[in-house]
Amino acid sequence: MNNFDKYWDNIHLKYNSTYDGWLNKYINLINKNDVIIELGCGRAYCSNYLLKNNFKNITACDFSSKALDIVNKENPNLETMMLDMSLGLPFKDSSTNIIIADLCLHYFDYVTTNYIIDEIYRVLKPNGYLIARVNSANDKLHIPIGAKELEKNLFYDGQIYKKFFDKTDLNTLFKKFKICYMQEENMSRYEKTKILWEFCLRK
Ligand SMILES: C[S@@+](CC[C@H](N)C(=O)[O-])C[C@H]1O[C@@H](n2cnc3c(N)ncnc32)[C@H](O)[C@@H]1O
Repeated sequence: MNNFDKYWDNIHLKYNSTYDGWLNKYINLINKNDVIIELGCGRAYCSNYLLKNNFKNITACDFSSKALDIVNKENPNLETMMLDMSLGLPFKDSSTNIIIADLCLHYFDYVTTNYIIDEIYRVLKPNGYLIARVNSANDKLHIPIGAKELEKNLFYDGQIYKKFFDKTDLNTLFKKFKICYMQEENMSRYEKTKILWEFCLRK
């Protein structure tokens, strides 16, 4: 039994962050009645942004009970769900218009990542969108110090796994999706600039 959720409980109790506006450019793709799921929501900045823009049908999901406690307290109008995405997504086939996954799909080995992506594909409606950001393999500053590389670009520091993606990984893992946008970007939300892949994919 791992304790990855407890690791994240501690992080969420200690640190705060902010919404950096990355989702704004996709808002026109989303209809007001769309079913929206945010995976690995943490403090749910993305869901809050959508809630403030009058999207109603949002479920913010995470496996950290502490993160969800904070979200529920701060945003009683936002629906939340505790789930561990590595165990699958408890949603029906073709039930969701939009899945948002900001900086949460890069904590798994290749097999588990592949499984989660299959689950996302299953749950999305035809023409539904996955809008996400993940670690780039060029983000050398965020490889945990002293971590072991267990498989290509997957590091383990004794606490959590961190995976870093190159373009070939993304093309392989998301091959069933149509790419609407895929770009390597710099993010300045953290202390050190982070290099990540941002993408918007359609089923
Ligand atoms: C770097 S944080 C990002 C949080 C939020 N999306 C943001 O950008 O502010 C990663 C999040 O993924 C969540 N997470 C990690 N592994 C998960 C899993 N197996 N199932 C569900 N959530 C998970 C963590 O609890 C954490 O909230």
